[in-house]
Amino acid sequence: MSIKVENISKSFQARRKGEERLSVLKDISFDVNDGEFVSLLGPSGCGKTTTLTIIAGFQKPDEGKIVVKGKEVSKPGPDRAFMFQNYALFPWLKVGENIEYPMIKKKLPKAEREKKLMELLHIAQMENYKDYYIHEISGGMKQRVALLRALACDPEVLLMDEPLGAIDFQMRHMLQQQLENILMQKNCTSLMVTHDVDESVYLSDRVVIMSRDHGRILEDVKIDLPRPRDRESEKYHEYIEHITEILKSALNGDVVTQEDKDIMEFIKNRESEENKENIAC
Ligand SMILES: Nc1ncnc2c1ncn2[C@@H]1O[C@H](COP(=O)(O)OP(=O)(O)OP(=O)(O)O)[C@@H](O)[C@H]1O
Ligand SMILES: [Mg+2]
Repeated sequence: MSIKVENISKSFQARRKGEERLSVLKDISFDVNDGEFVSLLGPSGCGKTTTLTIIAGFQKPDEGKIVVKGKEVSKPGPDRAFMFQNYALFPWLKVGENIEYPMIKKKLPKAEREKKLMELLHIAQMENYKDYYIHEISGGMKQRVALLRALACDPEVLLMDEPLGAIDFQMRHMLQQQLENILMQKNCTSLMVTHDVDESVYLSDRVVIMSRDHGRILEDVKIDLPRPRDRESEKYHEYIEHITEILKSALNGDVVTQEDKDIMEFIKNRESEENKENIAC
């Protein structure tokens, strides 16, 4: 199921008297094709979450439209699942009950719910944790449960806002692999917001890079690499470098938030690694 973002603009009311309205997105357009995995990458505050929530139908654009599978959408629907950064799991329910919840809301019969639940737990290798409460499982497992819950009603579109943002480095690589496996089995059309360049190259068919200039799209990079991606390959590094350069120009000395600092730290580390390599040569 394809997503078309067509010329959307969005501004917000000023917080203080006398201030101008904040124009976050101006005339933004891009597509996600059927079955594709696309990442939205960009500096903090450039409008990534705003774009995602407009696609989800949580808020309306001032101008422009969102077309999903040929039809304009303006409110949330079961065709588009949204995965929040903070998991948003129900702590009073067990793992299995959390995943079953959207199926109950959709009034699926019990036998079908149980079958789907076991299938989902199986693909994430979490069969043994069905009866655990949320506080009894690790952060990485919570992330997987959130993903399984988002997939429970077979959404055609999966929207993810920094789904692995809270996960540490080692675990992140493992979860990226699992996310890729699960989504390949489910054949979902996916749009993910991230500020992690490596994550975007590892997971995406395309990376759309936004800027703070009203969300203007700086580049739409097609990642033409076989899956699973080889982080050691030369082409993989070339993509990382290319995207990092674009991000650097997007920040343009305007480092204000922790996320910007993370991006700059990533760029600095890469540069010092390159220097070391040059010295070694
Ligand atoms: N409901 C709102 N009311 C007022 N301003 C808002 C609202 N939602 C977002 N904004 C502003 O719009 C801008 C873009 O916010 P958004 O959350 O889309 O950025 P982002 O790219 O997701 O940033 P981050 O990477 O930090 O999550 C920010 O300046 C934010 O303060
Ligand atoms: Mg955001």
